[in-house]
Amino acid sequence: TGLTALDYGFVNTASTQSEITYIDGNQGILRYRGYPIEQLAENSTYLEVAWLLIYGSLPTADQLGEFDEKIRRHTLLHEDLKRFFSALPHTAHPMSVLSSAVSALSTYYEGSDPDDVELTMVRLLAKLPVIAAYAHKKSIGQAFLYPDNSLSFVDNFLRLNFGNMAEPYQIDPTLSKALDRLLILHEDHEQNASTSTVRLVGSTGANLYSSISAGIQALSGPLHGGANEAVLQMLAQIRDSGEGVGKFVERVKRKEDGVKLMGFGHRVYKNYDPRAKLVKESADEVLAGLGVADPLLDIAKELEQFALQDEYFKERRLYPNVDFYTGVIYKAMGFPTRMFTVLFAIGRLPGWMAHWREMNLDPQTKIGRPQQLYVGEPERQYPGL
Ligand code: CMC
Repeated sequence: TGLTALDYGFVNTASTQSEITYIDGNQGILRYRGYPIEQLAENSTYLEVAWLLIYGSLPTADQLGEFDEKIRRHTLLHEDLKRFFSALPHTAHPMSVLSSAVSALSTYYEGSDPDDVELTMVRLLAKLPVIAAYAHKKSIGQAFLYPDNSLSFVDNFLRLNFGNMAEPYQIDPTLSKALDRLLILHEDHEQNASTSTVRLVGSTGANLYSSISAGIQALSGPLHGGANEAVLQMLAQIRDSGEGVGKFVERVKRKEDGVKLMGFGHRVYKNYDPRAKLVKESADEVLAGLGVADPLLDIAKELEQFALQDEYFKERRLYPNVDFYTGVIYKAMGFPTRMFTVLFAIGRLPGWMAHWREMNLDPQTKIGRPQQLYVGEPERQYPGL
């Protein structure tokens, strides 16, 4: 075929042009639509950044107000869809529940105008947190609450997770601010595995629900979003085994049973992940604000110190990534470990949708169809012929 380039893992191949997110992995720079992540994390909100990613500029106060209002009006799930959760085991991983429910959501809107992407984006932004909270409630055997549309996006989500029928939910501004900030940090990261999945599925003409459902599954793996859950399991294992940070790192370096330092390393960042820097700064602040002391945070810091001074990690330019410290914060907020990647998915939803939309508006878009180099058997005869 004349094909010569073989690129496992797409290390050197760009599949698209994009105007959404800029990363300089050597310098540790991340910008959404030109705005530094540090400025957005400090001053913006999840919904404002969602608008920015999707439409390319910061919304006016009116545009943001209208966007917020529309999202509030679409938080209810169809009652039949709520029953969908009963068919799943309570032991189901919330990421599988999330992806399945988003896929199921599409069946309720099959007749709707396929060109009404704006409405579909609003529906997804409104309903994904509700589905996520129901996945959580299902796993702990508690009743689902109806959304309260008088609350902000983040407070509504927190109440659906931590409120119950028996008592009024108390809003905690420290918690709300901290979660909003973490969601902003996750909103986009250019052509990562889940975003590329959303684009690939979307490139076939599949609808946005199907593309997002596939993106959620791609995110669930421990090398991608699933790393935040794996980090906490690793920290707990170090604490419970009494092995100590030094011995654990030695095992990582020997690549014993494929053990890795989860939450470390990145395909693009060969310097400190700027998101990890912001999350690390938040961790002490948030834990103190919530009145939580967690020895796992001390283990994480010790592990980071140890690894950053070690030749193995220096040579390979491995630094903490966004997933290294987030789990400790989510845990302090009261989320079970299996919900961590679900929080990542809610964070990443605007980015996935922005890329899906950008791809569909780009006249150069073609169906994604990677090539291969065939290395199998040459032609041979079926026996007896
Ligand atoms: N612990 C130990 N060794 C590592 C690690 C790690 N976390 N990450 C990379 N290495 C080693 C790897 O074994 C290889 O060594 P060698 O040259 O001896 O073969 C070298 O560093 C280069 O790594 P790579 O696997 O070729 O790099 P990649 O770009 O293909 O993989 C990665 C990137 C993120 C999958 C990988 O660093 C990793 O598995 N990290 C742990 C999982 C993780 O934290 N994932 C979250 C990523 S950031 C947020 C997100 O995407 O969700």
